[in-house]
Amino acid sequence: MYKTHSCGELRPSHIGETITLAGWVHNFRNHGGVTFIDLRDRFGMTQIVGNVEVNADLAPLKAARSEWVLQVTGEVRKRVEGAENPNLCTGEIEVDVKEVKVLNKAKMLPILINKDEEVDEHLRLKYRYLDLRRETMRHNIELRHKTTKFIRDYLDEDRFLEVETPILFKTTPEGARDYLVPSRVHPGQFYALPQSPQQLKQMLMVASVERYFQIARCFRDEDQRGDRQPEFTQLDLEMSFVERDDVISLAEGMFTALVEKVTPEKKVFQTPWPRITYQESMERFGKDNPDIRFGLELVNVGDIVAECGFGVFEGAIASGGEVRAINAKGLGDYSRKKIDALTAYVKENSKAKGLAYIALTSDGQMRSSFAKFLTEDVQDALIKRLDAQSGDLLLFVADQAETTFDALGKLRVHVADLLNLRDPKVLGFCWVTEFPFVFWNKNEERWDPSHHLFTSPMVEDIPMLESDTAKVRGQQYDLVLNNYEIGGGSIRIHNGELQEQVFKLIGLDPDVAKERFGHMLEAFTYGAPPHGGIAIGMDRLVMLLADAPNIREVIAFPKNQNARDVMGDAPSPVEDQQLVELHIDIKE
Ligand code: AMO
Ligand code: AMP
Repeated sequence: MYKTHSCGELRPSHIGETITLAGWVHNFRNHGGVTFIDLRDRFGMTQIVGNVEVNADLAPLKAARSEWVLQVTGEVRKRVEGAENPNLCTGEIEVDVKEVKVLNKAKMLPILINKDEEVDEHLRLKYRYLDLRRETMRHNIELRHKTTKFIRDYLDEDRFLEVETPILFKTTPEGARDYLVPSRVHPGQFYALPQSPQQLKQMLMVASVERYFQIARCFRDEDQRGDRQPEFTQLDLEMSFVERDDVISLAEGMFTALVEKVTPEKKVFQTPWPRITYQESMERFGKDNPDIRFGLELVNVGDIVAECGFGVFEGAIASGGEVRAINAKGLGDYSRKKIDALTAYVKENSKAKGLAYIALTSDGQMRSSFAKFLTEDVQDALIKRLDAQSGDLLLFVADQAETTFDALGKLRVHVADLLNLRDPKVLGFCWVTEFPFVFWNKNEERWDPSHHLFTSPMVEDIPMLESDTAKVRGQQYDLVLNNYEIGGGSIRIHNGELQEQVFKLIGLDPDVAKERFGHMLEAFTYGAPPHGGIAIGMDRLVMLLADAPNIREVIAFPKNQNARDVMGDAPSPVEDQQLVELHIDIKE
């Protein structure tokens, strides 16, 4: 047996016992002949002590350096008065080492394990196996495990079946590019890695599984961001004989229980979780993944400024755009330079061409980038509409609706960060519903589904599918948490004819539709039950539960921002012979 106890286990009740520990040298200090080492394993840390001058066999203890792997046997004893460490659960005791064995040495490490200092992320990813030894990463990985385990147990109790679905399959579009896998046995043919198990879980509903879930790996070739990886994990879920509210209450119940059990230190902002329509979310927050934990909401002021004489505002409105504003409460004394920084933020992060402002200083003065055009009436009306007082900063964007929303939606969150209004301990869950069923893709001149191809329109809107397409709402719902979309789902089409009508609407050629989705259309002809579901981005969820800055922090072996695995160095070239077998020629 390598160890009788873990490094996090020993307490005063063990005093006097002879025990064996094994682990890594976290810290070492040599005071003359006496060596103190904090020995670490996954479960904690224990101080071990030995004196080579008293026992010459302990020479390896003195020689040991950071991250060497040691096995020690010794007696548990009380630490001397004043030497206790209240930050350590083993802090009242230490081990008086009698025997030591070096199980392995370690070279000088490229990153420090025992200090939580900023390290270049490239190094952290290249040496991920070392990075994972660090306390924060150990904690994140453990939190992820607990989250997944909780979900599995919860859904099992609720009569769900976990079913694995294939990774080598056919295109399952969710709006990204596919990763393709060439077939050796079928020259010129490819599997597509699933962007989600969407089609397969619907097939499972036709198969009468009724309540399905899977902790599923998904693959999407798209631009990387802090909350996006080429492969990521969903909690994927599908149920038969349900309506929207059934799926919503299942998810809400499960995640409420999860937070209580797994992160009890967190507080849910509002229960039951608010449900906001897409339209309302855009109007109030400028985005469909809002942070609802603070105010600073968008306000439409177009009617007030439409004829004020300020070209920027009038021009926007004349060309079908709008003027909206937020009240950055408490920033009224911001210097010109700081306001310029807000303008730069807006320009860098959106297509808006500028940011106009009215600053109401706390000593009752007013400064504005369009002061010339501010008659008393207009000023009063703006102050009233924006509920402004001395000490407030009013920020305006004039543009087409899409840009106005985008710019102010991002600025609102940025200002909240400046004002420290985004406490990670508070979880602002909300549902966003009634999304437009499709949106117009200007470049391609066609309707694109706003969720995916299999989402059902709202029943009362079906008659408008062809006559008033833009007004049709989908039976889609997104789960949003603190400015992130953490989940999305819908009630599906379970009727082949409606599915074909939707394919037609979005301009999918009937032959192509048949080739890609014929299996689904056929399945729907054999008694498909009404069904719906949702998928939660596990990486994003755990990131928010762990207060991590991006999803790479909660994935053991993530890709970097360039979709590269820098530890294993993938993707990488392959042997010519492999290419020959796969019938592939590489163009230089
Ligand atoms: P959707 O495409 O909205 O829905 O995905 C569901 C959730 O998965 C997460 N997510 C990602 N996380 C990390 N990296 C990515 N590249 C990435 N892409 C998506 C998000 C998102 O909310 N089949 C449907 C679900 C359904 O209808 O049941 C689907 O995949 O948190
Ligand atoms: P300009 O006419 O570009 O000199 O801008 C005059 C003021 O209006 C500056 O403070 C700009 O930041 C601001 N501004 C310019 N374009 C916009 C816009 N689209 N929305 C709001 N403010 C703008």
